[in-house]
Amino acid sequence: MARFTLPRDLYHGPNALEALKTLPGKRAMICVGGGSMKRFGFLDRAEAYLKEAGMEVELFEGIEPDPSVETVMKGAAAMEKFQPDWIVAIGGGSPIDAAKAMWIKYEYPDITFEDMCKVFGIPPLRRKAHFCAISSTSGTATEVTAFSIITDYEKGIKYPIADFEITPDVAIVDPELAHTMPKKLVAHTGMDAMTHAIEAYVSTANCDFTDPLALHAIEMIQADLVGSYNGDMAKRDAMHNAQCLAGMAFSNALLGIVHSMAHKTGAAFADYGAHIIHGAANAMYLPKVIAFNAKDPTAKARYGVIADKMHLGGENDDEKVALLIQYLRSMNDDLNIPHCIGHYGADSYPTEQGFVPENVFLERLPEIAKNAIADACTGSNPRQPSQEEMEKLLKCCYYDTEVDF
Ligand SMILES: NC(=O)c1ccc[n+]([C@@H]2O[C@H](COP(=O)([O-])OP(=O)(O)OC[C@H]3O[C@@H](n4cnc5c(N)ncnc54)[C@H](O)[C@@H]3O)[C@@H](O)[C@H]2O)c1
Ligand SMILES: [Zn+2]
Repeated sequence: MARFTLPRDLYHGPNALEALKTLPGKRAMICVGGGSMKRFGFLDRAEAYLKEAGMEVELFEGIEPDPSVETVMKGAAAMEKFQPDWIVAIGGGSPIDAAKAMWIKYEYPDITFEDMCKVFGIPPLRRKAHFCAISSTSGTATEVTAFSIITDYEKGIKYPIADFEITPDVAIVDPELAHTMPKKLVAHTGMDAMTHAIEAYVSTANCDFTDPLALHAIEMIQADLVGSYNGDMAKRDAMHNAQCLAGMAFSNALLGIVHSMAHKTGAAFADYGAHIIHGAANAMYLPKVIAFNAKDPTAKARYGVIADKMHLGGENDDEKVALLIQYLRSMNDDLNIPHCIGHYGADSYPTEQGFVPENVFLERLPEIAKNAIADACTGSNPRQPSQEEMEKLLKCCYYDTEVDF
């Protein structure tokens, strides 16, 4: 038996934010990041709409990018004090993901972070609060997904929490919130969305319900991402929907090892001054993983379908896979994203000498490969990598060398 779960309600299009006026409840806690939502007036509007709905409102502000376990615990303590019956998370993937994990801890104060990370092991929520998510970036689609990514900074590892219990009750996909994104954020979150759609389509958990969502998202992202990056606001609006469709697909079809590798490399070199930003990591690793997965005949045929949808040409599946890889690499070029970790600068832009030194990478490689294999996203990848293969694959992602194994 398989399950397909989405939020009960999804409000989209211009002024969708006003749907907050219709939420029934007494106390809403708004969870938000470091300032962009406040600066652009969205936070004030959200607060006013919730008050119009008759709710008492409290803010939990300052959730950092790639939120930590500590932030989750702090937010849960604030909820315990305020006793909200609505949790309203507004912003990018980071504040929304943090709020999802706070929600679990609020409902079950004794639960440990380790317990939360047991895949599909969250006890029933909604005994204390319902959850509304409002996305301001066009990538993670966390407003519709069963996932939350929390970073354990002591270990330098990102942990996915995965359970349909944390799929929000209400998602608000208002394109206006995405208009203020800087170019770099458009690029990274957009390639994150492309990776979600492609990984969902070739995942071993794909199904008739997820395939159309994934394929339509891929077509839209191909049509709209680069234009959105270059300032076309109609395409920016389309990308906000496209990433959400990709999220509906991957929340139910799951992901693959591009994400496993991104989760386990993202914070692994933080002591050298930077993170490998999630979407950029995906953009660099996706072409390598396609070459690796295409050794599996079913996955190869599915990449062929994707290439056809994208009108890339090719006489047979081998040619189609090669053209798909070439196309995705050209998107990275258009979006100023490097092709490999070796050329990934601390500012995320391509550079001759990336911020991760070669010797440090090689020294940490066995551990990172082991962690990537153990990541929750590996199980649904079409080809299961051995330790040796994962190390080789990560090396290809460091040096931008061809995957021929
Ligand atoms: N839950 C999921 O299903 C899922 C999927 C993919 C990634 N993730 C996780 O989500 C996180 C990344 O989220 P993200 O890419 O949305 O970025 P983010 O939430 O980390 O935000 C990045 C920066 O952009 C700013 N920002 C956000 N929206 C803005 C806007 N509209 N205008 C101007 N600035 C804005 C933020 O203030 C922040 O400084 C990572 O931790 C990643 O691992 C989660
Ligand atoms: Zn992602």
